[in-house]
Amino acid sequence: MLIKKNPAWQLPESAVTPEAVFLNRRRFMQGTIAGAATLAMPISFAKAAELPPAGDLVFSKNTRLSTDEKETPFEDVTSYNNFYEFGTDKTDPAKYAGSLPTRPWSIAVEGECDKPGTLGLEDLVKPYALEERIYRHRCVEAWSMVIPWVGFPLSDLLKRFEPNSRAKYVAFETLYDPKHMPGQSSLFSQIPWPYREGLRMDEAMNQLTLVTVGLYGKVLPNQNGAPLRLVVPWKYGFKSIKSIVKIRFQEKQPETTWNTIAPNEYGFYSNVNPHVDHPRWSQKRERRLPSGLFSPHWIPTRMFNGYGEYVAGMYKGMDLRKYF
Ligand code: MTE
Repeated sequence: MLIKKNPAWQLPESAVTPEAVFLNRRRFMQGTIAGAATLAMPISFAKAAELPPAGDLVFSKNTRLSTDEKETPFEDVTSYNNFYEFGTDKTDPAKYAGSLPTRPWSIAVEGECDKPGTLGLEDLVKPYALEERIYRHRCVEAWSMVIPWVGFPLSDLLKRFEPNSRAKYVAFETLYDPKHMPGQSSLFSQIPWPYREGLRMDEAMNQLTLVTVGLYGKVLPNQNGAPLRLVVPWKYGFKSIKSIVKIRFQEKQPETTWNTIAPNEYGFYSNVNPHVDHPRWSQKRERRLPSGLFSPHWIPTRMFNGYGEYVAGMYKGMDLRKYF
């Protein structure tokens, strides 16, 4: 079993909190009047997120939701990418995304909610404590990685805008900036920009769905979707939309980029599923990176990418061949 089962409350606090935060907290606890006041302290009052344009992030480790599989080296995570706004080659994003300005950045939240609004990146992220989650990342193209992401639950963000009862889905959009994103101005591009994705409301609120601002403890590199992207680990990687500028609550299922381009190949749900092949290749196995000609490192693909215990209930009674 690859997902650690110990519930967070069985771990010593020092195991889930960076040492500096832990020691500061102990100092603070020691300084508080003993008795009821101390006992009433929340178990964790992690720091609000600070998001520098580059460099290190402060976060705690979420071991409960992390795999202990070997992490894919930083080099591979940041040089083998899909980000069609910068070109279709795996090496294009690392070559061309560096010049994308990610500050200032704002995100509009609209649609079926009581508190819509447009927020600057810092205001959007500030209320949340960041956590590291080491997730499997499975692309529909049958390669995979293990990545230590840093972020916070999407559910915490969405609740703040008070979605109403008509909010059945959440739609997401990437930045449209053909000046800095050469793939968007390319005459050969067949993608109707901006890149769009969507989730059903329960999927968006699932504890695994992460708003991601970093990886390997550092601010997200541009090629991985800076300044803020989704990570939905039980779905094929294309659902994990990068460089988000718009979030919309809606009653109808959103139109999504790959589903619009090739609906017979890429479904709206796109849950990782070894029993439903892509029309042009098998989904039964995946090439875990790093991999090479003489050590291709093929491993079996797992239902829901191994996250069934957290997500299978959402699809009970659904024909996953029809809703692929
Ligand atoms: N988001 C945008 N805006 N544009 C893209 O081309 N590619 C998707 C997804 N998000 C993509 C995107 C695909 S196909 C995958 S597999 C993942 O991003 C890749 O994420 P990574 O490069 O960080 O591994």
